[in-house]
Amino acid sequence: MARETMTCTDNRTGKSVEYPILEATRGPDAVDIRTFYKDTGLFTYDPGFTSTASCKSKITFIDGGKGELRYRGIPIEELAGKQSYLEVCFLLLYSRLPTEEEARDFDLEIRHRSFVHEGLRNLIESFPSDAHPMAILSSGVSALSSFYYEHLQVESDAEYHEMASRIIAKIPTLAAFAYRHALGIPLIYPDIERSFTENFLYMMRAYPGGKMKITPEGEQKIRQVEIDALDTIFTLHADHEQNASTTIVRGVASTGAHPYVAISAGISALWGRAHGGANESVIAQLEMIGDVKNVPEYIARAKDKNDPFRLMGFGHRVYKNFDPRARILKKLQDQLKEELGLDSKLLRIAQEIERIALSDDYFVSRNLYPNIDFYSGVILYALKIPRSMFTPIFVIGRTVGWITQWIEFKEDPASKIARPRQLYTGA
Ligand code: CMC
Repeated sequence: MARETMTCTDNRTGKSVEYPILEATRGPDAVDIRTFYKDTGLFTYDPGFTSTASCKSKITFIDGGKGELRYRGIPIEELAGKQSYLEVCFLLLYSRLPTEEEARDFDLEIRHRSFVHEGLRNLIESFPSDAHPMAILSSGVSALSSFYYEHLQVESDAEYHEMASRIIAKIPTLAAFAYRHALGIPLIYPDIERSFTENFLYMMRAYPGGKMKITPEGEQKIRQVEIDALDTIFTLHADHEQNASTTIVRGVASTGAHPYVAISAGISALWGRAHGGANESVIAQLEMIGDVKNVPEYIARAKDKNDPFRLMGFGHRVYKNFDPRARILKKLQDQLKEELGLDSKLLRIAQEIERIALSDDYFVSRNLYPNIDFYSGVILYALKIPRSMFTPIFVIGRTVGWITQWIEFKEDPASKIARPRQLYTGA
């Protein structure tokens, strides 16, 4: 509801127009400028959408100044590590946490839907062996649209649910297949006796026949601490309001394209180093730095305006305070360090970068804090997850967010095709 207005005056003509201010339940209100062009003949100019609310949303709230993140009104601190990732998926999709029975049913449904059509397996096997898992994943999800074409028209609640649970269930299988294909090792099918997160680790690590590695001490199992850490990482990635990849998903949704190709476009957008690809780049960068003694040299490069080098895993468009997800992961990293006795060279370099950056005026004055990708990269490395799988892991977590935002877009009567204008400066 708009009670207040804002008046906009064109100083060239003296013409004033009043615009309604839409009230937010939390965070900044928004000026409704939908008729701005019609009223004034002018466009607004906002590259990167730094001041533009592209939609109304009830899903996720971020207060970047306070370092606050909520899913459906619940602070992330009450969810991460306290509810399972699938319970958080239910929360995002249905606006409330599931009852015990609903959680069990959802979990069982996801297990049963985790298999993919054999045709997809053939598709994956046709990729070159050095293909990055993100390339395979994005193509695989796009190809899902041809196996479930009927979901082009999703109308009833039951169809929304089927589409959402189907894609949440299949993404880890496709991600694990993509990884194993790149290694040239036999693909492992899902094991429906395992939970969502354990199953993913199992599909990445098991030997044909379903066994994990055999050592002189016996069969190595997936450690509960690894499952819990990964499940928390999935939860922390589950949604993040109108970030770049979600904006792309909504943009594709706005053209009426199939939901699975919208998710595939989101995967492609997430791959970039400025977005989800940062977690992989963090480790690449730590390896490049190579030694704690080299850290000051790279900090100096990050500060040098004439050097394009940026510290990966630092800074965020919205958070101008510690990213609350990073705060949770920092704690998890310290806990894992104790529980797993981690003390690698890379971890020491990461801690030195963190120490210097948190006290250096360049980073402090620009509010450049370590972000989620800084710690998730370090934790996934510590869990011996291969670097090429870091961004696919982000994809697994974020899939529910993309789907929930896709559904919200479809159900919003104000939704329109995404079609911005431009300030033409050419010939
Ligand atoms: N290292 C050094 N300087 C930086 C960095 C960095 N990582 N990030 C920003 N700056 C500087 C930048 O040079 C600029 O300085 P000045 O005001 O003197 O020109 C100032 O900080 C503001 O930067 P910006 O590029 O205008 O900020 P942005 O909001 O457009 O970009 C960002 C945000 C995340 C793309 C950027 O901080 C970055 O490239 N970080 C490294 C990549 C990264 O870690 N990405 C993961 C983001 S979190 C998870 C996700 O969204 O997927």
